[in-house]
Amino acid sequence: MEMINVALPKGRLGEKVYDFFERAGYPCPSIKEPNRKLIFENPACGVRYFWVKPSDVAIYVERGAADIGVAGKDILLEYEPDVYELLDLGFGKCRMAVAAPKTFRDDPARTLRVATKFSNIAAAYYAEKCRDIDIIHLNGSIEIAPILGLSDVIVDIVETGKTLLENDLEPRETIVPISARLIANKSSYKFKSDEILTMKERVAALLENSK
Ligand code: PRP
Repeated sequence: MEMINVALPKGRLGEKVYDFFERAGYPCPSIKEPNRKLIFENPACGVRYFWVKPSDVAIYVERGAADIGVAGKDILLEYEPDVYELLDLGFGKCRMAVAAPKTFRDDPARTLRVATKFSNIAAAYYAEKCRDIDIIHLNGSIEIAPILGLSDVIVDIVETGKTLLENDLEPRETIVPISARLIANKSSYKFKSDEILTMKERVAALLENSK
């Protein structure tokens, strides 16, 4: 049996995803040990997990360093990695949205200044609306950009809406719903097809049962 290499997003979402894989028949008990290791394997069930930064999962999978990964739809839309999207896992549900200070009134005659970590998603969204924008690419704490006058609006992920609320911003438009996706490297999908299809089926069955 060939080992399947699985890139998991490090953090809150990743722990949930690992528990799910465990229940789907891919346990790897050493992953729960309190240490800072990043790679764990369980040859008995043919799986090797590694923790990577959530926004890097798709890179590992696209280049074949991982056969399988779990990435947010936000990352897939933003970077368009050349991978197969196998399943919507339904975890990590949130949405990509435009948000603005409560007092902001849009003037369509002016170029809209948009701060975001998701420049491609924002550009595509406004291009479709034929709206002129100026993108200000940031790497985090996007919510403070309109407060400090750096931008008019933001395009960012909204989960509970708490971050917006606590920074006096409000959601104005939903761009797209987001959730975690199971993705596969294209050549692994061909050359490890038995292992990958089995994994996909087990995960799909567990999703079905947990509905
Ligand atoms: C995201 C996003 C918001 C927050 C929204 O950040 O950028 O800041 O979550 O969640 P809420 O609607 O429940 O308040 P994340 O925690 O992913 O960290 P990041 O800024 O490093 O991306």
